[in-house]
Amino acid sequence: MSKKTIVNPKLYEIIENAPEEEVSRQEYFIEKLRDEVEIREKRLGRKLKCMVNTFGCQMNARDSEKILGILEKAGYEEAEDEKHADFVIYNTCTVRENANNKVYGRLGYLGSLKKKNPDMIIALCGCMMQEEHVRDKIKESYRYVDLVFGTHNIFKFAELVVNSIYTNKQVMEVWDSTDKIVEELPIVRKYSFKSGINIMFGCNNFCSYCIVPYVRGRERSRKPEDIINEIKTLVNDGVTEIMLLGQNVNSYGKGLDNPISFAELLGQITKIEGLRRIRFMTSHPKDLSDELIEVMASLPKICKHLHLPVQSGSTEILRVMNRKYTKEQYLKLVDKIKAKIPDISLTTDIIVGFPGETEEDFDETIDLVNKVQYDSAFTFIYSKRTGTPAAKMDNQVPEDVVSKRFDRLLKVVQEISSERMKKLTGGTVEVLVEEINSQLEGYVTGRLENNSIVHFKGEHNLIGQYVNVKLDECKGFYYIGSMV
Ligand code: SAH
Ligand code: SF4
Ligand code: F3S
Repeated sequence: MSKKTIVNPKLYEIIENAPEEEVSRQEYFIEKLRDEVEIREKRLGRKLKCMVNTFGCQMNARDSEKILGILEKAGYEEAEDEKHADFVIYNTCTVRENANNKVYGRLGYLGSLKKKNPDMIIALCGCMMQEEHVRDKIKESYRYVDLVFGTHNIFKFAELVVNSIYTNKQVMEVWDSTDKIVEELPIVRKYSFKSGINIMFGCNNFCSYCIVPYVRGRERSRKPEDIINEIKTLVNDGVTEIMLLGQNVNSYGKGLDNPISFAELLGQITKIEGLRRIRFMTSHPKDLSDELIEVMASLPKICKHLHLPVQSGSTEILRVMNRKYTKEQYLKLVDKIKAKIPDISLTTDIIVGFPGETEEDFDETIDLVNKVQYDSAFTFIYSKRTGTPAAKMDNQVPEDVVSKRFDRLLKVVQEISSERMKKLTGGTVEVLVEEINSQLEGYVTGRLENNSIVHFKGEHNLIGQYVNVKLDECKGFYYIGSMV
């Protein structure tokens, strides 16, 4: 059967009339989706609800805001849970195996919901969908999934949904790469006062354990003027804190027609009036420049927090990981940063049980953690990712050994972190109030410049405000405080 004969004539007509230029094209498809939403609303006698479920990193969270933006523009309202949703989309992550398993687990549940609500649309997107074996599994075992797309064609979301509605088949469209960066589609921000902003996409580093370069493609930087304009629009809309996002922000700007450095970009952003806090992540240690340290030290709007993933403290493991720095180089860099920015808060990512990791290698990691004194660290058990060089290494570390090391590391990390946090106890700091505390009645939660969290008595009207809070008590990962 040729493609044309299976196309619904109405869909054929819609596609025939669609504009070429990408932004207008997607706006056109949002309108078409809106028409369909209205038809269904009339039939059901109620509004349609949607649920966007995000797995993975801040990059995915930002993509989800774009997806929600389009769905709301088309007339959907946000559902409280999947049970009450007419459209459910999972924006997936595949950085570790357990991220994948979670998605498969929940897909079964979605299938049972769809039996009760046959109109329900189920969509999957994000990093996991870039993997062929995942797509094969969905084709085979999850036929009730209506739409699958990837990280490179997310801007086509509206068009793909319309396609899926008018075709009685599973629509699966995943691209291997793209050089397009499509701006100016609608977006719904999770918070009114803070926002993530992509400054670049993809990654060129190919750390040997990591799947990200395969699922997110090669590094592409957005133009500085586009970034600045986006931030200005956000600030006009009430945003005061931004988080610049990229897998390796320190190599920002390299491929641009007029290359500029990340430090220069920060310099420009800091001039935007009304903006109060600038954060960024992630920094790869190999590319962290003296210029960036200078800029961080001298520009007060830049939060004194640096997430500097080390991954391992063993120079040999770092070499096999393709991280391009040694333990000594990393420690020297940390010393330099601390000398220039004494109140810097350092956080990191560490992988335990990378293939070939010996007890001595692991001791080096513990030693490094003791030397750096991180404010906090994300610790991960190495997860084998098909297609990466490390997956083919034959000296994988046995599970029980990894698990013992992991517990040992976690203990060290937590002790240091709690010691570091205690140092601020009793002091008064400025915090940005983010939300009502869901556990403690009558409390709100705010974030310090160093990214730590404090809970204190307060009400809804404080959300989005900067207030001074005394840190009364340190509870390990967070503080309990009182507004002064
Ligand atoms: N671009 C960032 C990290 C993105 S992934 C950087 O280079 O720092 C976030 C973290 O997941 C990584 O820092 C790493 O610690 C962890 N990670 C990545 N691949 C992993 C794997 N295969 N197994 C376990 N942890 C992994
Ligand atoms: Fe993965 Fe390394 Fe790229 Fe980070 S820098 S996303 S760990 S390949
Ligand atoms: Fe996961 Fe993709 Fe981010 S694999 S960590 S969601 S870039």
